[in-house]
Amino acid sequence: MAERVQACTPCHGIQGRGTSDPYFPRLAGKPSGYLYNQLLAFRNGRRKYPPMNYLLQFLPEAYLKQIADYFAAQRPPLPQPGPADVSEAVLDHGKALVTGGDASRGVPACVSCHGSLLTGQEPGIPGLLGLRASYLSAQLGGWRYGTRTAIAPDCMQIVAGHLTEDDVRAVAAWLSAQPVPADPSPAKNDAFALPFQCGSQPEEGTLK
Ligand code: HEC
Ligand code: HEC
Repeated sequence: MAERVQACTPCHGIQGRGTSDPYFPRLAGKPSGYLYNQLLAFRNGRRKYPPMNYLLQFLPEAYLKQIADYFAAQRPPLPQPGPADVSEAVLDHGKALVTGGDASRGVPACVSCHGSLLTGQEPGIPGLLGLRASYLSAQLGGWRYGTRTAIAPDCMQIVAGHLTEDDVRAVAAWLSAQPVPADPSPAKNDAFALPFQCGSQPEEGTLK
């Protein structure tokens, strides 16, 4: 598999550890179900980035599953964050939204689904650390403007719909400034209940 995924290395780095390009995301250690959902989404055009859409165009599902399993199992060292280039006030706002949300505006705490350690939950929820601010804000923008969608009910579309441009800048800046955890492994499935349903994270007996 390491040889087969060489086409991915220029953009995603060796073992999917990421590169210095701030827009190319790390893949290593993300939950396999999450990675598989993304590969399907790019192949089927539900998530848009032309080089990825093109590369995956003809790949069968069983093969995409193997690719997802491969990157999920990798544990290369993760990059440490650079200094944030925003004010303390912006960072404080970002931290408050990630850890507590803003009930008055219907914004749920990001930790309620991404986990108190922000390492995600198997099978479908990715961690949010070790990603750069420009990538994070582009993804939240993608949901707000409809160029990124997930399996319905698309909970991230609901979450992103409650965020303003300033909120997005603040959460992206705070998240990308956090040290990466020593163990980025996602929490086990059903380790904690979600505040509302996500199609990409079927919970026991509710979806499928
Ligand atoms: C030309 C550069 C490029 C190549 C080659 C490439 N990717 Fe990507 N990939 C990207 C970019 C950029 C994104 C983020 C796109 C977006 O959503 O805006 C991405 C996103 C992804 C994601 C989703 C990551 C996440 O956290 O949501 C997966 C999974 C992925 N790529 C897998 C692969 C695999 C597997 C290969 C090789 C078969 C590959 N990519 C080749 C640039 C590339
Ligand atoms: C109700 C549960 C839920 C809440 C609350 C939630 N998320 Fe998510 N998030 C998800 C799921 C599920 C996915 C995976 C979606 C998919 O399959 O594409 C996701 C994916 C993401 C991604 C994509 C990561 C990547 O590697 O591309 C980002 C960024 C993100 N969430 C940010 C946030 C932020 C910021 C907040 C808080 C403001 C938040 N999320 C709150 C469930 C949630």
